Amino acid sequence: MKYLGLHDIRTEFLKFFESKGHFILPSFSLIPKNDKSLLLIGAGMAPMKKFFTGEEIPPAKRVTTCQKCIRTGDIDNVGLTDRHATFFEMLGNFSFGDYFKHEVIPWAWEFLTVNLEIPKEDLWVTVYYEDDEAYNIWKDVVGIDEEKIIRLGKEDNFWELEVGPSGPCSEIYVDRGLEHGSEDERPGGEGDRFIEVWNLVFTQFDKDEEGNYKPLAHPNIDTGMGLERIATVLQGTDNIFEIDAIKDIIQEIAKVSGKKYGQDKNADISFRVITDHIRAMTFMISDTIVPSNEGRGYVLRRLIRRAARHGRKLGIERAFLYEIADMVINSWGEQYTELKENRESIKEIIRREEEKFLETIDGGLVRLKAHIDEMKENNEKLLDGEKAFKLYDTYGFPIDLTEEILREDGYDVDMEGFQKEMDDQKRRAREARNDSNVGWANQDNKHLFEGLSDEFLGYEKDECDANITRIIADDEIVDSLEEGQEGLVVLDKTTFYGESGGQVGDTGEIISDNFKLRVTDTKKTKDGLHLHLVKVEEGRLEKAPVKAIIDSKRRNNIRRNHSVTHLLHRALKDVLGSHVNQAGSLVMADRMRFDFSHFDAMTKEEIAEVERRVNEKIFEGLPVETKVTGLEEAKEMGAIGLFEGKYQDQVRVLSMGDYSRELCGGTHVSNTSEISMFKILSESGISNGVRRIESITGPAVYEYLNNLSAKEEEIASELKSNKDEIIQKIKLNIKNLKEANKNLEKLEHDLAKDQISDITGDVREKNGIKYVIKKFDGVDVNTLRDLADEVRNKLGSVVVLFAAVNDDKLNFVCAVSKDLVDKKIAAGKLIKKIAKVAGGGGGGRPDMATAGAKDLDKVEEALNKLDELL
Ligand code: ALA
Repeated sequence: MKYLGLHDIRTEFLKFFESKGHFILPSFSLIPKNDKSLLLIGAGMAPMKKFFTGEEIPPAKRVTTCQKCIRTGDIDNVGLTDRHATFFEMLGNFSFGDYFKHEVIPWAWEFLTVNLEIPKEDLWVTVYYEDDEAYNIWKDVVGIDEEKIIRLGKEDNFWELEVGPSGPCSEIYVDRGLEHGSEDERPGGEGDRFIEVWNLVFTQFDKDEEGNYKPLAHPNIDTGMGLERIATVLQGTDNIFEIDAIKDIIQEIAKVSGKKYGQDKNADISFRVITDHIRAMTFMISDTIVPSNEGRGYVLRRLIRRAARHGRKLGIERAFLYEIADMVINSWGEQYTELKENRESIKEIIRREEEKFLETIDGGLVRLKAHIDEMKENNEKLLDGEKAFKLYDTYGFPIDLTEEILREDGYDVDMEGFQKEMDDQKRRAREARNDSNVGWANQDNKHLFEGLSDEFLGYEKDECDANITRIIADDEIVDSLEEGQEGLVVLDKTTFYGESGGQVGDTGEIISDNFKLRVTDTKKTKDGLHLHLVKVEEGRLEKAPVKAIIDSKRRNNIRRNHSVTHLLHRALKDVLGSHVNQAGSLVMADRMRFDFSHFDAMTKEEIAEVERRVNEKIFEGLPVETKVTGLEEAKEMGAIGLFEGKYQDQVRVLSMGDYSRELCGGTHVSNTSEISMFKILSESGISNGVRRIESITGPAVYEYLNNLSAKEEEIASELKSNKDEIIQKIKLNIKNLKEANKNLEKLEHDLAKDQISDITGDVREKNGIKYVIKKFDGVDVNTLRDLADEVRNKLGSVVVLFAAVNDDKLNFVCAVSKDLVDKKIAAGKLIKKIAKVAGGGGGGRPDMATAGAKDLDKVEEALNKLDELL
């Protein structure tokens, strides 16, 4: 057997199949395209389904790839064993109606035995039990002993996904020897002696949603060999965590944690979890997935948080995963250049998600621990769904993490209850969003458009001559529509842009000699056919030659708003950094909205700078040019955009001078000066790491300015000023207001003073001691104290006792002059007894004390108590 490193095996495989006439394609993205049946790509053939079914034309009839794959079905077991992983790479060679069993079987044999030098006697194979053809090729052409060819049933030797291309298969196994199992063990059974390395699928069927197998027009080949799996064979290791590139990750984790792999069972679990998940998360983020609470984003979140928790278990207290990601990028980046290109954002997204989780993990663990104690006490085994949901919602504990922690202690989660809480929350979110997305030409109404095609002329002109090729009403093909009726119309040529790429559909009219149709919207089927949603305004609609005329004014605004997204994209990258990427957009006639990857809220200065740059490029009047070209050339031109999976297509590159170059199918202005002006209305966050800008252009900016100046007029008139002086006027008003307040305070004080002179005329005496009592309304304690102080100063030798009623509270203040204090008359002692009369208490110094009470009707009684006390 030949020792080869992980990365070298990949190269060896691709080169081998290139030598057999295969076209090497780079790995497809982990995000499936136009395939709702899959969340993530989990097999080499998955992104190529349409090549097998004939719906799309492959770039070559023989293709070979090394596909990045994620399978999350076994995520709970990752780490617990050394066999499970979520991320892996699948080597494959594919024939789309070209070669079949007679070629693929001997090639597989050749690659394993010649290139990889695996001893022939170690190889066994299985075939589908009815597949004599494959059986005989193995036996007669390859020459394997018949006892090493095992026939198995559909369970083992028929390969299929939920839907799509499928067929019988033949698997190749390596016999690892008797030290791994017994004499009578066979491939396909339990046990570790035989390890499956390669699956050759003879793809002959297309399985539909109902589970029917329809024969494909021609037979195909799909093969899959797990790269890590074959590496374990060649490197003679026991499991994937011991192969070269992967072992390096383990070592790195060991360095960071100060622990060693292979010394402690529990620590090893954590090592493996992190080692697997780090590759999955790095690759996912580089394919533009961001952590979220739904779909792929949620898978990513689970992976990051699960890995983060295991980091803690290894004693790492800080965010560290992003450092390990660096190592994955270095090692795998040669083959997957997107990793290097996105290094900055990959690390940033991982770091933020981990930090965010670390902030709440302790709180969550404490809570979960409390739940566990409670369950122990009550002899329960199942954690309430609502509690699990709370952990998810408040502490960011993905449910599998909660499950995992519970299981470590022998408990579990009421998943049904959890799911119910989750569904409720989703329903609420859906209702809040209230978005209605119309899907055109879905499985149900595909037949309505069969055999039709059209030509789009709307890049160059606003109107064209055309023929109606189909009229549809209420999901049926019809011959005519009467005045007032609504329906769908397909033309052989059209200038109407169908909603796509974030740009809304055109409106306008379709006219003939005999009828006039109002086009209220235009959509596109999956195959690109334009559907005009019409209402018959005049006459009777029948198939006839027509003129298709879009609403040019509206379209011009759409053009402005679409073109400005490109300028904005560029300016954002320049101002905020190259990590900024478009995450979505909605281009309408009256405004546009642009979503992009960025972490922090933009500062006022950044927003102003971006806006300034975009306007500068508008005022420069850059020519806008489109070029239809091959993908490679587009890349060389430096165009940005979604290249992925389009290698066979011609792409449309849109340039604005030298400033911006992007792939785009939308409609645009011919010179940036037509945009006229750009104004950002808002900048906000829509999810973790994704920001949104809403903005307007051209006539909408004009309208915006008009509104502003109307408001300005209104303010000026309210202020009885003119526009030029409103700021001054406002400042003056504020100054006047402040002064008025000051005067008011002074007046209030004077008023209180007047009351004092009243009081001082009301001095009483007891046992030769002068005293004053009085009740005020609505005077606060501080003022009350000031007043008492003033009265005391004025009268010289005196005991002052004031009360004030504030809302539902009673305050007392008592002040005693120095000479009386010397005679042992203490304000603090007095007030204590006085407040008690009104159900309160207080105290203070001998010369000044305060108290509070609540029995408002006892105020007089309390005040009179002073006389008695003296
Ligand atoms: N599609 C086959 C598999 O994934 C080759 O095993």
